[in-house]
Amino acid sequence: MKRFLDLADFPREEVKDMLSLAARLQRHPQPSALAGKVLGLLFLNPSLRTLASFQSAMMRLGGTTVVITPGQGTWQLETRPGAVMNEAAAEHVREAVPVLASYCDAIGIRMFAEGRDLQHDLAETGFKMMADLCDKPLVNMESAANHPCQALADWRTMDDLHVPERGKFVLSWVNHPRALPLAVPAATVHMAAMRGMEVVVARPEGYALPEPIMEKARQAAQRCGGSVRETSDRAEALKGAHVLYAKEWGSAQHYGDSETEARLRKPLGDWCVDESWFTNADPHCHFMHCLPARRNVAVADAVLDGPRSVVIREAFNRMVVQMAVLYRLLRG
Ligand code: CP
Repeated sequence: MKRFLDLADFPREEVKDMLSLAARLQRHPQPSALAGKVLGLLFLNPSLRTLASFQSAMMRLGGTTVVITPGQGTWQLETRPGAVMNEAAAEHVREAVPVLASYCDAIGIRMFAEGRDLQHDLAETGFKMMADLCDKPLVNMESAANHPCQALADWRTMDDLHVPERGKFVLSWVNHPRALPLAVPAATVHMAAMRGMEVVVARPEGYALPEPIMEKARQAAQRCGGSVRETSDRAEALKGAHVLYAKEWGSAQHYGDSETEARLRKPLGDWCVDESWFTNADPHCHFMHCLPARRNVAVADAVLDGPRSVVIREAFNRMVVQMAVLYRLLRG
């Protein structure tokens, strides 16, 4: 394995094999497996879990990390091709990425959506440019339209909790003060479809996921025996659900238009998960969220702090599955 950029790049059996490796590495630690190896982590956007879980995973396997957060102790980086660099950025990624790669055995890059042009972001234009600059094994630590490490951790979390492979998985839009990127919803809906689940995306009018994201998930479902559909009828969606996965995202229809977004969101305050959402769900329905989550905007305290919530397990599993990803990238 040379790159871990998208779960869709791997057959289902290979993903399951990676999850088995993660379980083995957790049960039987290998503190020298990656001794002498260096992982470079380039964060063009903030993080808590991704940063700490990659550092912890690498350390538990005996390797080390170099973390670059441009503008915070390192030069501010320019990403635009052809930019006239007479503003704050002192260095272009065209030099910075190969230089970092030359010191390291593998690289992780986080580069969110620009949030202006939907087609540009769905095409992963920015991340692909960065990937082309890197000649070492590469991990996508969240791009414009993908977050494969989160998806793999969420798959493992459902396996841990014995959520049926053919169970009902509801990805629901939840509120947030502003439009967030499509990376997690895109990765999540695809992952659940690839796991073979009955996937329902619940969202208010105006927040349909873009067709390419739904089509990719439908194709995965077709291959893996699941199904995928969308609805604005939240109560119907949640009937019999085994998992409610809450996520905030911006309107694809009004992409980059913050004024229209603000107007659309104003009446959607009830898209904040509380216990009433689970009335007709499976009694053991789990609440999932990738974090960070806005308390009492996206989800009520009582749910996040209650027995349904598995958000801490999801975050912990980031470290566990990333150990397997790093092992495969650096040891085969
Ligand atoms: N879920 C996730 O990727 O968290 P961070 O943004 O804190 O890394």
